[in-house]
Amino acid sequence: MTARLIMKLRVAEAVPVTPDVLHLRLVHPSRPELPAWTAGAHVDLRLPDGRVRQYSLCGDPADRGCYELAIKRETDGRGGSAWVHGNLRPDATAHVSAPRNTFPIVPEARRHILVAGGIGVTPLLAMARQLAASGADFALHLCARSAAEAPLLQAARAACGRRLTCWFSAEGRRFDPAVIGEGADGTEIYVCGPQRLMDAVRSALTARGWPEAQIHSEHFAPINDETFKPEPFEARIASTGQVLHVPAERSLLDVLRGAGFAMPSSCELGVCGSCECGYRDGLVIHRDVVLPPAKRQDRLMPCVSRARVAVTLDL
Ligand code: FES
Repeated sequence: MTARLIMKLRVAEAVPVTPDVLHLRLVHPSRPELPAWTAGAHVDLRLPDGRVRQYSLCGDPADRGCYELAIKRETDGRGGSAWVHGNLRPDATAHVSAPRNTFPIVPEARRHILVAGGIGVTPLLAMARQLAASGADFALHLCARSAAEAPLLQAARAACGRRLTCWFSAEGRRFDPAVIGEGADGTEIYVCGPQRLMDAVRSALTARGWPEAQIHSEHFAPINDETFKPEPFEARIASTGQVLHVPAERSLLDVLRGAGFAMPSSCELGVCGSCECGYRDGLVIHRDVVLPPAKRQDRLMPCVSRARVAVTLDL
């Protein structure tokens, strides 16, 4: 696996902000500044056994002195969050990549509407901070069961003031996408949270005339489609004409590496965006959760995505 550069950062603070969410502040052990990032970015956190997990940065992008993460303990997760909660205490070392942004703010938008479900608030809080600092027009809708279970609620209040609307289901207030209104030019929607929230927002808004391209979402869980049956296909290399056979039991990424291409990767689950690659023709079966619809016409994630019959890669 070709990973991104990993830094050994020190845990400066590890504070529970709800019963199951740990807020971490990470600093470099000797340097005052960390690599710059923009709101919506995530880092890879490398676990001792080599597994990699992606977590959004939730701090202030203008603060180069630390990275802030808020990590929910997922009882039915893949083990990453349980390790974080059990091991990342003050002065522990966290192995963290430089940030990467696959969920950026659209700079030319006139208005930004952020919809956060539970721990999905993390990238949106960073966006709210960046938008507030630039004087942009924005609103944050924060959905949780209750105030006590809403991660980073105080920070969201401080960053957003009156631009924050809370939807606490235990109080009978469930988020209704209708409050966003009809599709509007110059307004971008950003959603992060459970898949059902993102699906509900996307389908409600597209039904009201919002273009797909104005709805952005991020979710760090791989597609779970156990019924998918991979088929073999051919991958043609545009620069050389070489044709590679991708058997059903191997990923395109694996075959490319076997043919000598130094492809970067991190999660190999279609959630981080590290292995992104261009293509020119072919019917691609996209199986990642990171590429926005507008990029799927000519970009793919070879760690999980495949093609029907053949694809030509921009390599
Ligand atoms: S390696 Fe993460 S999306 Fe492919």
